[in-house]
Amino acid sequence: MMKRLEGKTALVTGAARGIGSAIATAFVENGAFVYLTDIDDALGQEMAASLGEQARYLHLDVRDEGQWQSVMAQIIEECAVLNVLVNNAGITGFEEGCFVHDPEHASLMDWHAVHRTNLDGVFLGCKQAIQAMRRSASVGAIINISSRSGLVGIPAAAAYASSKAAVRNHTKTVALYCAEQGLPIRCNSIHPAAILTPMWEPMLGEGPEREIRMREFVQDCPMRRFGRPEEVAAVAVMLASDEAAYMNGSELNIDGGILAGTVATPKTASET
Ligand SMILES: NC(=O)c1ccc[n+]([C@@H]2O[C@H](COP(=O)([O-])OP(=O)(O)OC[C@H]3O[C@@H](n4cnc5c(N)ncnc54)[C@H](O)[C@@H]3O)[C@@H](O)[C@H]2O)c1
Repeated sequence: MMKRLEGKTALVTGAARGIGSAIATAFVENGAFVYLTDIDDALGQEMAASLGEQARYLHLDVRDEGQWQSVMAQIIEECAVLNVLVNNAGITGFEEGCFVHDPEHASLMDWHAVHRTNLDGVFLGCKQAIQAMRRSASVGAIINISSRSGLVGIPAAAAYASSKAAVRNHTKTVALYCAEQGLPIRCNSIHPAAILTPMWEPMLGEGPEREIRMREFVQDCPMRRFGRPEEVAAVAVMLASDEAAYMNGSELNIDGGILAGTVATPKTASET
């Protein structure tokens, strides 16, 4: 197999499972040295160990600037450069069960919690990566994992949608800033939808209703199925590689065609 990321050093946040672990795996398969980071240390370590000598696990809570600084310092000390950052860590706010996050009832605490991980985490990652890449004269690519929810309104997940929309916009600001500064750092966003990962578990539940719910969640998807984490990882490999040297400030949807149409009409109160 052609190794498209040979010689590159990458950092992936939220890499213990789901889309992050698929991206880390694809990066290693393509020749990169990958730092997998997460707050779930047991799972993160297990994942990194399964990838062999080209992978290493470090604890990183994306909400904590001090942790970002230590991780960046360690990477530059060990590898001299950082070429790729994937800001993947994200939460829906539904991890502990399905709560209402609509614009009328969402609590300020829940709103802030979702933004702290999804938006503050991406802001801090971009900030620390730009500084580390500048100091080490690295040719860099930053990939921010937004969502289709960052492109359309989601009545039941207001905080998530708002945080992901902000990630989309910040990606473009970072791309322009780096270009303005003459830094060889590209920044692009990926917008997945309905990718079957553990993030969906609280919404799918167990038992006989699970299959029905799965079908319901993809009924507006032209391809009538969930996407696979590997399908997102393939696009991340392309954006991280030199093949995407002229892609900057762009957004790529991976959603089975959901956003190609206008079927996502919100339910009326009597239907919910
Ligand atoms: N799965 C989907 O359908 C989908 C759709 C659109 C966007 N996304 C986005 O893709 C990204 C990955 O989603 P996923 O489905 O793999 O989710 P997931 O819940 O399976 O995995 C998320 C990972 O992030 C880690 N994490 C959570 N908070 C963290 C923090 N503060 N610091 C560091 N790590 C933290 C978790 O421990 C977990 O390992 C997220 O940003 C998500 O919003 C997913």
